[in-house]
Amino acid sequence: MNTPSHSFYQGKRFLVTGGTGFIGRALVKSLLKKGAFVRSLDNDSRGSREKLGIIADHVELITGDIRDLDVVKKAVHGMDCVCHLAYINGTEFFYTKPELILEVAVKGMMNVLDACIAENVKQLVLASSSEVYQTPQVIPTDESAALVVPDVLNPRFSYGGGKIISELLAVNYGRKFFDRMIIFRPHNVYGPDMGREHVVPQFAFRMKEAIEKQPTGKIDFNIQGSGEETRSFIFIDDFSNALLTVIEKGEHLNVYHIGTEEEISVKNLATLVASVCDREINIIPGRLLQGSTIRRCPNTNKLRSLGFEQETDMQSGIKQTVKWYLNINNSK
Ligand SMILES: NC(=O)c1ccc[n+]([C@@H]2O[C@H](COP(=O)([O-])OP(=O)(O)OC[C@H]3O[C@@H](n4cnc5c(N)ncnc54)[C@H](O)[C@@H]3O)[C@@H](O)[C@H]2O)c1
Repeated sequence: MNTPSHSFYQGKRFLVTGGTGFIGRALVKSLLKKGAFVRSLDNDSRGSREKLGIIADHVELITGDIRDLDVVKKAVHGMDCVCHLAYINGTEFFYTKPELILEVAVKGMMNVLDACIAENVKQLVLASSSEVYQTPQVIPTDESAALVVPDVLNPRFSYGGGKIISELLAVNYGRKFFDRMIIFRPHNVYGPDMGREHVVPQFAFRMKEAIEKQPTGKIDFNIQGSGEETRSFIFIDDFSNALLTVIEKGEHLNVYHIGTEEEISVKNLATLVASVCDREINIIPGRLLQGSTIRRCPNTNKLRSLGFEQETDMQSGIKQTVKWYLNINNSK
């Protein structure tokens, strides 16, 4: 694999907003490994210092809100590059806190842009999402596909809508005020300690519960939808490598998918999770939440043209992730 170079990162100063979150922590760790200076700004609503483990001592940690311009200006001061990841994640929040999602998206993005301009920071990297496509017309979907809000009245689209606004702001301010502005759109990143609000940890927890209740025999396992819906997932270690590659080699005012083209159905994902637990399951299909997408898979040609190659397959990534969740307390 064409790995990201040390020379690009050595001594460079990065601010990672959302730096104690799932992807933020992985980015912080990778940047430190490459010899960069790293500062994190996070309000720890989802992330935490503890989750950074021993590397917390090597990062300048600012606990503050991305909606507070003064805090963001202080965090941006003296940086070479800002990686803006802070956002409200988790599908259940799309429905329960849509107004907060949009506030963090829009005020956060504006504060990052204003702070970068005020502090003369010329490089910006923005985390967007595959949710900007909602139900893509062409699969695998490339970066030029239309970004859509299918129904303004459905709170689900607060998340994707917030990302679309962030992208528009970043591109149009980026053109005028930045030397380099790059957007990445992650497609279902998974791995140990990724939080609870995602299909992989939810399947792992539910499998654990079912096994405790039923120590032998085939387990009845409920899922949302028919089970034929597909997603493509990328393991966190591959994701970090891909992101460093994009930060180093991505072109100004360009968008890059970070994901894989390996699709898996929800039914097969559940079966894979069960197999890690040495169990068999009967899939029980259910109702799909309104606004959910049947199939999503990125075209990753642009990412691969930068030299990125996936190293961890689903089997191995799911095994590491599920084992991590089986070993922790459910309330954690
Ligand atoms: N994980 C994925 O599969 C995925 C997919 C698509 C897009 N993304 C995007 O990648 C980025 C990182 O995602 P993640 O999976 O690490 O999520 P995460 O929730 O673990 O991390 C987001 C971080 O932002 C912080 N945050 C939230 N509101 C804040 C506020 N008001 N001020 C300061 N910090 C705040 C949270 O505490 C958290 O640590 C996000 O922008 C997300 O939308 C992730």
